[in-house]
Amino acid sequence: MPCLEEIRRGLEAAGQTHVLRFWSELAEGERETFLQDLALLDLKALRKHCEAARTAAAAASDPHQDRDQDMEPIPPQSIGSVRKSDSSALSEWEDKGLLQISQSRVGALLLAGGQGSRLGVSYPKGMYDVGLPSGKTLYQIQAERIRKIQELSERRHGAKCTVPWYIMTSEFTLTPTKKFFDENDYFGLDPANVVLFEQRMIPAVSLEGKIILQDRGKLAMAPDGNGGLYQALMDNHVLEDMEKRGVEYLHVYCVDNILIKMADPVFVGFCVSKGADCGAKVVRKAHASEPVGVVCRVRGVSQVVEYSEISEETTELKGPDGELLYSAGNICNHFFTRTFLQDVAENYKDQLQQHVAMKKVPFVDSSGHHVKPSKPNGIKMEKFVFDVFPFSRNFVAFEVEREDEFSPLKNAEGADSPTTARNSLLAQHHRWLLAAGATLTHGDGNSVPAGDSPPPPPLPQWEVSPLVSYFGEGLEDLLQGKTLPTPFVLDPVRANELIGGR
Ligand code: UTP
Repeated sequence: MPCLEEIRRGLEAAGQTHVLRFWSELAEGERETFLQDLALLDLKALRKHCEAARTAAAAASDPHQDRDQDMEPIPPQSIGSVRKSDSSALSEWEDKGLLQISQSRVGALLLAGGQGSRLGVSYPKGMYDVGLPSGKTLYQIQAERIRKIQELSERRHGAKCTVPWYIMTSEFTLTPTKKFFDENDYFGLDPANVVLFEQRMIPAVSLEGKIILQDRGKLAMAPDGNGGLYQALMDNHVLEDMEKRGVEYLHVYCVDNILIKMADPVFVGFCVSKGADCGAKVVRKAHASEPVGVVCRVRGVSQVVEYSEISEETTELKGPDGELLYSAGNICNHFFTRTFLQDVAENYKDQLQQHVAMKKVPFVDSSGHHVKPSKPNGIKMEKFVFDVFPFSRNFVAFEVEREDEFSPLKNAEGADSPTTARNSLLAQHHRWLLAAGATLTHGDGNSVPAGDSPPPPPLPQWEVSPLVSYFGEGLEDLLQGKTLPTPFVLDPVRANELIGGR
């Protein structure tokens, strides 16, 4: 059991003894739990953390310094693009990526420690079912895409392979995620190749720089942002695990993108062929004022500049090709070499910028009453995964098509909601099926004309299981000349029936 006196001294040194204000009123069991929580705090760093939060929050209310004068786009030789490349270049990158995967040199790393407060469900976002005909959750879709890409790589290069799946969770998401995978037999993956680990939590701090008490014997804690990854890699010996398995490249992504191409061979192949240590997938900004971070260079250093740090005039600048000069929208979809991550974890992780998020943090007031604030009262400090770009020695960006690769689930309704995520996936599958030569018929028996773009939402329900096709490949052989009614889920059983019915 940790020693109360020692903790009290640490809290005193950090100016935070108020958190023990209700100690004498706590029951024995509550004291034990509270003490254990307090023992997890880095007491030496606590004063610095609280002061940094207070000053950063004060600075955040100042008008932003625009970064325009120092910005330049990523140079053309460091950018690849699906849209601007011919099919032979794309195939070459894909083949290179599949080769690396077939040699078990590629892993996927999911950032799944967030609280998903905007979506507002009480369980991890990966367990969310956006209402597809199959009823699959985000976790299941991702697991099946890993199975498929392993199979495709094995088939192409004739070698049995594994894409280990590293999943960063937090105190909020670890237990339910683990339980969900256990209950669902890891969706057909070998549990030995699914590595769950936990990121650190840090206290939320009031505007005066004091740790907020969520309850009389509980601090208000929050995960330290998806940039907590680098500390978590060290804490949990993940890089050692990668080394043991021979994994040299990692595809890192967010849980909420329903269109994520797990361990995307084209992206991996592009990054490897460029000798990159760090890469970012980007999508073209939808319009100049879209509120998305832009991948660019600032004083020659690759990084993401937030939309709030760029003046309107600069966002509207056009390049010689008539396209927006700063159009490379960051979508939290990255490539890292293991050696780069090792370098960051050992040498740079403590230099990562702290970002301030002002949040409504429920608390107990000095008389022990619970308060639900109506306006932001607390500061959560977060690190971002992309803040390591400046430490890269060879950074590349890779532009992909938004409609094929990016549709995040962030909100309960409106933009980036379950409806938009579901519709993006169904629209993509609709395109795949028509391109494969299938005839699609509506409930009324009328068929959708071939070459037709997907009708406006709500879309008819044609879904393709990732176990049948990873990115639209292999469908022509199955579907040419076939008529598919709606709703229709093309899963492996249906696919076999179609083959049998030839
Ligand atoms: P978001 O910034 O969208 O946050 O995370 P969120 O927690 O999912 O949702 P809100 O803001 O509370 O509504 C982007 C990605 O980073 C992960 C999330 O799980 C998501 O995949 N993340 C975020 C972490 O892994 N750890 C964190 O501390 C924060």
